[in-house]
Amino acid sequence: MNFFLKIFKFLPPELSHSISLNSLNLLYKLNLIGLFNKKIINQNELNIFGLKFKNRLGTAAGLDKNGDYINALGALGFGFLEIGTVTPRPQLGNPKPRVFRNFHENSIVNRLGFNNKGIDYMVNNLKKRNYDGVVGVNIGANKSSEGIERINDYLLCIEKIHKLADYITINISSPNTPDLRDLHLKENLQNLITSVEKKIDEVKFTKPVFLKISPDETDESIEMIVDLVNNSSFTGLIATNTTIEKDNLTNKKLKNEAGGVSGQPLMEKSTNKILLIRSKCSDIPLIGVGGVMSKDDYILKINAGADLVQIYTGFIIKGPNLINQIIRD
Ligand SMILES: Cc1cc2nc3c(=O)[nH]c(=O)nc-3n(C[C@H](O)[C@H](O)[C@H](O)COP(=O)(O)O)c2cc1C
Repeated sequence: MNFFLKIFKFLPPELSHSISLNSLNLLYKLNLIGLFNKKIINQNELNIFGLKFKNRLGTAAGLDKNGDYINALGALGFGFLEIGTVTPRPQLGNPKPRVFRNFHENSIVNRLGFNNKGIDYMVNNLKKRNYDGVVGVNIGANKSSEGIERINDYLLCIEKIHKLADYITINISSPNTPDLRDLHLKENLQNLITSVEKKIDEVKFTKPVFLKISPDETDESIEMIVDLVNNSSFTGLIATNTTIEKDNLTNKKLKNEAGGVSGQPLMEKSTNKILLIRSKCSDIPLIGVGGVMSKDDYILKINAGADLVQIYTGFIIKGPNLINQIIRD
């Protein structure tokens, strides 16, 4: 496995991502995913938020943007998957290069900009899935949508996906869609929440709805968001997305690249947001994500108050063995 990880390091990031996930799909079809799994499985199944999770470790959004790898990722041992971000219409995202791996600092800077094949494509993938674990769908707005159209984009996605998603994440926190993060402002967020509430009521979606937030919000803003979510029919929060703050990066080239930082440099910042949310509200459902590179980091997230934990960058940099370390060792 380490041999393959070393080779992938030399390929351009998006090519390496696509080759490794397609190889995983092939191994799944050949019934060989077991090569990555240890035999002793300590699954620790849990029932929370009305759903049955195989364990507390899931994939973060962005890893499988279109739901192309659900069965293979599920077979690796993740307790749940979050696919997306998906938008109503397909879009290409920002010009390349737009993903920069920083192996020395266990991090990635990305400005992908919600490249995805659109909600209809994802619907087809979800209809074909064999994985029997929880699959959440992370939804967003198209870059070309403006003002109220942005809110309509979330509603359109809910309409199309509500029968197939085990939970829905309303993603307002990508730094790579211009002004998307303005949806953290009180009036905008209240509008969004009210519109989503109406839609989930109309389509009778009774499963969880999470709001995924940015780590770059002030404490006051996070406290306001916790209040709004608590007083809504939303279930809880996912904290956090990537940060645009580059202070923690030492790599000078990457400091000057636009985009969001993920991985180790984000760990403390995003965990502090979990602590803050928990201090404000002891029982709000909370998924922690940001910087988990080891079992110790995973435990830190849980101890800070996360009910579930997601990983992205750790999985890219350390490979599937990280799942074994976290849930099986
Ligand atoms: C290349 C890349 C693409 C991402 N795409 C998305 C996305 O489409 N939607 C989203 O909500 N988060 C996206 N994220 C953010 C991750 O879901 C996660 O919140 C963040 O990377 C922090 O976790 P990590 O440190 O484990 O990577 C992306 C992250 C990376 C590195």
